[in-house]
Amino acid sequence: GAPIDTAAATAALLELRRGLETRNDLPDWARNSTQPVFGEGPPGAPIMFIGEQPGDEEDLAGRPFVGPAGRLFNRALEEAGVSRDEAYVTNAVKHFKFTPTGRRRLHQSPDAGDISYYQPFLQREIAIVAPRLVVTLGATALRAVTGRAMPVTKVRGTILRGADGKPFFPTVHPSYLLRIPDAATKAREYERFIEDLASAASTAR
Ligand code: URA
Repeated sequence: GAPIDTAAATAALLELRRGLETRNDLPDWARNSTQPVFGEGPPGAPIMFIGEQPGDEEDLAGRPFVGPAGRLFNRALEEAGVSRDEAYVTNAVKHFKFTPTGRRRLHQSPDAGDISYYQPFLQREIAIVAPRLVVTLGATALRAVTGRAMPVTKVRGTILRGADGKPFFPTVHPSYLLRIPDAATKAREYERFIEDLASAASTAR
């Protein structure tokens, strides 16, 4: 993309964060979270990855993709030759939605209403960071970017264009890989994920 004013973008991202922190119309469940989790990475990054929502560890750390899915994601990025430090990583939904079950907090998928609530924040975040390519990880991010439900498996690994003409690249969510029970299938799907990441990165260059 075009070179961007890093100081202005950093200030705009901070303002966006303050904006969410001071909202008084958050979904009820969001009040049970520890904190909102925002994106991280350099504004103007060529590639922006969008996940679903912070998980248990992200909620506590205040950083995206630092838990089990994040560790798998980091490993896959490395194998794909993509530097996480040079990418911008965020989520479609900025708070952790969970069901309390004893001392464990069980992840709950965000619904269509949750996705729409955070959509303006995500749109603004994309506009400020201005990546050459957005990569959606899983169904929630794809829905947040397109505004409609779409099967990830039908479109993964291909470049789609938004209503604004900007390209985005859908692939699967790393949590999906963690849940595959069969080892051979899991290994195959992991390789496909790495191929998608490498292909997205070469598109963004
Ligand atoms: N899963 C996500 O979608 N995002 C995170 O930040 C962590 C796990």
